[in-house]
Amino acid sequence: MANQLLQGKKVIVTGGSRGIGASIVRELAEAGAQVAFTYSSREESAAAVAQGLPGEGHFYVKMDISSEESVQQACDQILAKWPEIHGVVNNAGITKDTLLLRMKAEDFDSVINTNLRGTFLVTKTLARTLMKNKASVVNITSVIGQTGNPGQANYAASKAGTVAFSKSVAMELASRGVRVNCVAPGFIATEMTEILSEDQKKKILEKVPLGQIGEGRDVANAVKFLISDESRYITGHTLSVNGGLFMD
Ligand SMILES: NC(=O)c1ccc[n+]([C@@H]2O[C@H](COP(=O)([O-])OP(=O)(O)OC[C@H]3O[C@@H](n4cnc5c(N)ncnc54)[C@H](OP(=O)(O)O)[C@@H]3O)[C@@H](O)[C@H]2O)c1
Repeated sequence: MANQLLQGKKVIVTGGSRGIGASIVRELAEAGAQVAFTYSSREESAAAVAQGLPGEGHFYVKMDISSEESVQQACDQILAKWPEIHGVVNNAGITKDTLLLRMKAEDFDSVINTNLRGTFLVTKTLARTLMKNKASVVNITSVIGQTGNPGQANYAASKAGTVAFSKSVAMELASRGVRVNCVAPGFIATEMTEILSEDQKKKILEKVPLGQIGEGRDVANAVKFLISDESRYITGHTLSVNGGLFMD
């Protein structure tokens, strides 16, 4: 029988249709949680993820986290089915990499709006329900938010901002029993990192002490722990999952 660490918990995962989000959805479901996950454009990928999940009660909804209206509609849909939520994983995110001198304001805005403002919108929209159930919020940031990276000023700012946002909300909601933490992945094999050239990947790997690219499940295991009651005394923390790429 699978590990039932999350038995009885209802957890929302944004961007669960592929990549790290899909690994998180699977890991949480395998640990006994019921998972509601979102996709923004690729419904077929969401359907494929849902099909292989163990357990019952999982479903997916469309949500564009850069749109306040879409976040509200999707949260309404989820809350209509589930008046109780025990965990939220703000995972959906994008990159639009280019050097500062070439970066258009819209490239900056869209990354901030999706990654940082999207995390704010989802967390705020669900906040009252989260307080009722002493829920755990896990926000997916990035090692890039800790180190900065040439060509990713917009992305780095969005992820560093997410850490500061998470600490602030952790302080605000602690007295209501809500915990807010971050997981900061390093270099994980997904479509987001597939776009890097072989040369770029080789250079990154040379800096990873554990000498390998991470997998979605490495991130998912950290999320599972932070969603579970095993981490009941941890809030405002950022857990790095980066093979030692950055040690803080
Ligand atoms: N891969 C890495 O090495 C790495 C490292 C550090 C941090 N991260 C972070 O980990 C998270 C997941 O990354 P990933 O590599 O798995 O990315 P990915 O493979 O590109 O998947 C991104 C996910 O986000 C969803 N999404 C994109 N734009 C959205 C929007 N406007 N509204 C709602 N959902 C949206 C996508 O949904 P659709 O499929 O429907 O488009 C997809 O499910 C991101 O926050 C990323 O910044 C990744």
